[in-house]
Amino acid sequence: MTYEEASRRQAEALRDKKGVRILALETSCDETAAAVIEDGRKILSNIVFSQIDLHELYGGVVPEIASRAHMEACDRVVDEALRAAGMELADVDALAVTKGPGLVGALLTGVNCMKGLAFAAGKPLIGVNHIEGHVSANYLTNPDLEPPFLCLVVSGGHSHIVEVRDYTEFRVLGRTHDDAAGEAMDKAARAMGLPYPGGVHLDRVSKDGDPHAYQLPHPRVDGAPLDFSFSGLKTAALNILNNARQKGETVSVPDLGASYIRAVTDCLLERVTLAAEQTGSRTIVLAGGVSANSVLRRRMAELCAQKGWKLYVPELQYCGDNGAMVAAQGYYEFRAGHTAGLSLNAVASLPIEAEAEQ
Ligand code: KG4
Ligand code: ZN
Repeated sequence: MTYEEASRRQAEALRDKKGVRILALETSCDETAAAVIEDGRKILSNIVFSQIDLHELYGGVVPEIASRAHMEACDRVVDEALRAAGMELADVDALAVTKGPGLVGALLTGVNCMKGLAFAAGKPLIGVNHIEGHVSANYLTNPDLEPPFLCLVVSGGHSHIVEVRDYTEFRVLGRTHDDAAGEAMDKAARAMGLPYPGGVHLDRVSKDGDPHAYQLPHPRVDGAPLDFSFSGLKTAALNILNNARQKGETVSVPDLGASYIRAVTDCLLERVTLAAEQTGSRTIVLAGGVSANSVLRRRMAELCAQKGWKLYVPELQYCGDNGAMVAAQGYYEFRAGHTAGLSLNAVASLPIEAEAEQ
């Protein structure tokens, strides 16, 4: 029997099992992360090895350095996740890995690592979409959350408004035409002299700033009211900094930072409001690295309270990239019978499921 046949049969046999344990690995960007999760919700272990120190020097992620660091760390991080869960490879039911989107070289290291382990252990393999993983981070600490809901996914690479119809069924309602929200935060932060990753530091230094000190544009996309465009906003912030520099004036980073975060969150809140009104959804969920932003969390909570919508946010430690979210989504893919073969490949750009069927 081929590995693929055996894997399909195992997945079928485990269909109604309680206590399904998924071991997952995430290597799409600059975190090598592994976790063991039971039934998609219960975290048995979650190990995150961040490469921030390696990339800080360059002010951003250097793809080859990231891939090489994953190559060195993958096995150790997976071992640690198993050990912390008190398990051996034989004790898990299936293995999940991020297959995209992300840095392709970085993704390939994780896919190859898990493919080897799945084959060696004779366990089913599941390829997980990273964005869907971010959505699933919400299941880890919100036990009552179930689809359908409306999700704002804001990360370093993506800004999507997604209608989550079911655990493995998504429809993208809005997307960015240029920079992602996190990317826009990072680029502006870098221009303000803040270290990598900029969004985190921008949030921190802007806490005491005046969010109305600078009037920044709120770009819209003609004919696509749910889509985003952040590059004009970023350019406006860069122009303020450059003009001040030329005139020998100083810019208050807390004030510009707070104004910038206000403008980004204004754009996010406006689209979420419109999407909720269009779809009639009364459950709003945040996901992705930028969902850790303190202003976004506070303003989204205020908006939802005012509208009578229920808001779910991931716990701070699960906003950024982690293995637990990949294991959570992997569990639901497994339940839906979505196992991968040994030809599983990594893809830099991977649409969130059903997008093409819109
Ligand atoms: O989801 P994530 O960890 O990686 C990607 O899938 O891209 O998101 C990383 C992004 C970075 O742009 C980072 O600056 C941003 O999330 N980020 C934040 C905050 N924490 C992380 N942006 C604003 N405020 C934060 N507190
Ligand atoms: Zn991510």
